[in-house]
Amino acid sequence: MAPTETVAAVVCQPGSPDSCSLRDWADHRGLLVGTAVQPGLLGDEPRYAQTVAMEFNSITPENAFKWPATEPEAGVYTWDGADSVAQTATENGQGIRGHTLVWPNTFSSGLYEILPAYVLDAPDGETMQRYIDEHIAAVVGRYADVTDRWDVVNEVISTDGSGLDPNVLTETLGEEWIVRAFTLTREFDPDADLYINDYGTANPGPKHDAMVALVDRLLEAGAPVDGVGIQGHFVVGQPDAAGLASVMADWEARGMKVALTEVDVVNNDGPEAQAGNYADLIATCLASPACVELTTWGVDDAHTWVTAVFGEQSGPLLFDESYEPKPAYDALIGVLAEADG
Ligand code: XIL
Repeated sequence: MAPTETVAAVVCQPGSPDSCSLRDWADHRGLLVGTAVQPGLLGDEPRYAQTVAMEFNSITPENAFKWPATEPEAGVYTWDGADSVAQTATENGQGIRGHTLVWPNTFSSGLYEILPAYVLDAPDGETMQRYIDEHIAAVVGRYADVTDRWDVVNEVISTDGSGLDPNVLTETLGEEWIVRAFTLTREFDPDADLYINDYGTANPGPKHDAMVALVDRLLEAGAPVDGVGIQGHFVVGQPDAAGLASVMADWEARGMKVALTEVDVVNNDGPEAQAGNYADLIATCLASPACVELTTWGVDDAHTWVTAVFGEQSGPLLFDESYEPKPAYDALIGVLAEADG
């Protein structure tokens, strides 16, 4: 799709952070600053919808593009949520990060549904591969015009970095299903950047090494991989900024783009420490020629998966429960304004 357009021409004043919104600063710096969104809240909560429109130049459907949401039964498509995210992005002039086409993970599937049962229980490899192919064709075919990046595959490396996650797709089809997923997505959306996305890869270590090795193999096999998504579900103090810079340098050396795709920072040390963390993240991204995006995993502290999945935690996002910007928001703008020039 076309590059993100600014709705109105706003002139941000370098050195004067308050002169424009986070979205305008992001446009000004040529960076994607996004948020994960939920269609229900976009429809029901005016302050939520307004904050999404004003403060971000990219949106990621938090769940609405996922397999269980779009194709709960084989060949039965439920597009309502995904369509409404697509419509919001179009109305707001925002790019979409298409999250995610295929997400098979033994760890996460213990926490919440990530693949419908019919995929996991496919009677044989041929049927399983057909399900994957048809799913990609349907979702990418429908949203190619509004989506400029895809998380083609999500969380395919094991948590300890020992290799590929031993999920049923990989156990049944080998690594080849991943190559094929990229190739097919490119076929249906030739203009989009295609990403592999994972957690636990923001700093050097076994999991980052496993991701590098996998991307090298995928490229060698001819898979059209354009970028690597570093999810970034952090607690205050993570990740080490120098470590993140070195990870980004590894990707830059391979010609890969990097996106910080699912940033939240559980705030155990107070809002100022959290703000410092966010500042480090965006500064590291701006300093890396490979880094194109920082997306937060939600808008406000009243609606975060952290609370929903892990129980009450200190608010991890940029806006508080009343949609008021937090020090973390000011910190991002501060860095974007300062880095100008
Ligand atoms: C999470 C959503 O935020 C939750 O609402 C849902 O119940 C489970 O998925 N890694 C990912 C995201 O790639 O898609 C996950 O999103 C969070 C972890």
